[in-house]
Amino acid sequence: MSMRITPSVLNADLADLAGEVARIPSADAVHIDVMDNHFVPNLTLGLPVVSSLQRHTKLPFDIHLMIEDADSWAPQYAEAGCESVTFHAEATSAPVRLAREIRRLGSAASLALRPATPIEPFADLIAEFDQVLIMTVEPGFGGQKFLDIMLPKIRRTRAIAAASGVELAIQVDGGVSVDTIGRCAEAGADVFVAGTAVFRATDPDEMVTTLRQTAMQ
Ligand code: DX5
Ligand code: ZN
Repeated sequence: MSMRITPSVLNADLADLAGEVARIPSADAVHIDVMDNHFVPNLTLGLPVVSSLQRHTKLPFDIHLMIEDADSWAPQYAEAGCESVTFHAEATSAPVRLAREIRRLGSAASLALRPATPIEPFADLIAEFDQVLIMTVEPGFGGQKFLDIMLPKIRRTRAIAAASGVELAIQVDGGVSVDTIGRCAEAGADVFVAGTAVFRATDPDEMVTTLRQTAMQ
């Protein structure tokens, strides 16, 4: 199984996004956390900044929407050419319609679950998604402690995908580091967001490689 590392720029220098992204050429994609101060108590950036940043890098964009109005915004990120668009299960009442719209526009559709949201209600919908993002912290901020109690949910999601015969990527986000990535991979995750672990490292690109190697062990 290939292991993908998608660094989050949330805790990088947001005033120099182009420069920060240039520090992680080995990344599989750049993870962008879009927050609206309603779905989570924090505010970051939106489509105009994403579109500008696209002109400064060849890396694909992995968009993580932590916004209430996912229905109107998610398709616009797909239209802008982002490789994958993640919306939260808690932010839409029509996840299938939204996933189909994202796919129709050419992006991978990804469903995110807050720590308190179980995967089971979405088991029958799994074929509608390319990826499930399992939050391993409460969304909103970087630098929080990894929630070990989410490991069973990763395992159950992998089992649901296997039972349905669906090729599903499982992404984990929050507190992912060299200390925790192995447990996530062992449980069935194969795409890893890491914010502070990458951007607080002396050499962010070397950390991307170290994380990928650690996940594969
Ligand atoms: C948190 C964001 C994460 C965050 C992760 O709500 O979704 O992507 O940047 O940061 P770390 O890796 O520091 O936990
Ligand atoms: Zn994120």
